[in-house]
Amino acid sequence: MNDTTPFLMTYSEAGAGTPILFVHGYPLSSKLWEPQLLHLQSDARVIAPDLRGHGQSAHPPGPFSMEQMADDCAALLKHLKIQEKVILCGLSMGGYVNFAFYRKFHDQIAGMILTATRAAADTDLARKNRETAIESVKNEGIDSVLDAMLSKLLSPQNYRSNEALSSQVNAIMRGAVTKDTIVSDQLALMNRTNSLPFLDQINVPVLIIHGSDDQIVPVQEAQMMHSSIPASQLVILPQAGHLPNLEQPDHFNSAVRKFINKIGKEI
Ligand code: MLT
Repeated sequence: MNDTTPFLMTYSEAGAGTPILFVHGYPLSSKLWEPQLLHLQSDARVIAPDLRGHGQSAHPPGPFSMEQMADDCAALLKHLKIQEKVILCGLSMGGYVNFAFYRKFHDQIAGMILTATRAAADTDLARKNRETAIESVKNEGIDSVLDAMLSKLLSPQNYRSNEALSSQVNAIMRGAVTKDTIVSDQLALMNRTNSLPFLDQINVPVLIIHGSDDQIVPVQEAQMMHSSIPASQLVILPQAGHLPNLEQPDHFNSAVRKFINKIGKEI
């Protein structure tokens, strides 16, 4: 199902039971989560929004921030009249949104799944690279940025040998963002809060899922989060890059299903 909230945020939804909100990364949309919507709807109420400016959602004036995107997710839960606690699952930038959501609305969270993400803020070099990406998208259009991104999103092996997956990811990106989205996202990404200092205060169960061959967020970031977040569990998926939910959907879904069942018993 696809619907629009009063604030023009589109989302897909399926299933019933414990609500689980899947928050996509950059430069993607809710379409990232198709294997989860399809295969986890018998286990939970799965909801995947298009963040502001992405997919079919409206693009309010930028720059964006992780806090605004967290507010949008909270507004969506309200629109859906969800009063019970939810599981939040965020991939990469979606993970940064999870951290912002946790800081603002932690009473609403039953558990978090952090995938292909990191807690640290950008380094100076990362900020410089984002400024270059903004210039490049302004001067040359979105192709230069998206072409470079595609080869990094998948593991080197999947990029080389899985043509169907590469085309799928390419299509998702091209339907997900405009020039304005890329600029607004890059500004939000470079200005995001450092979440390292509060990792040891997270007091809900956390599942960390990371691809062993992630070229954007090295697996060491996941290991570090695992060592700092008290009730956390780490699953490293081999032969997966920055999109483990698409590159290893069965293993990813099975880890999430176990986590949902564990949380379902606790709430
Ligand atoms: C993402 O996948 O959401 C981004 O690559 C995150 C980032 O650039 O830090």
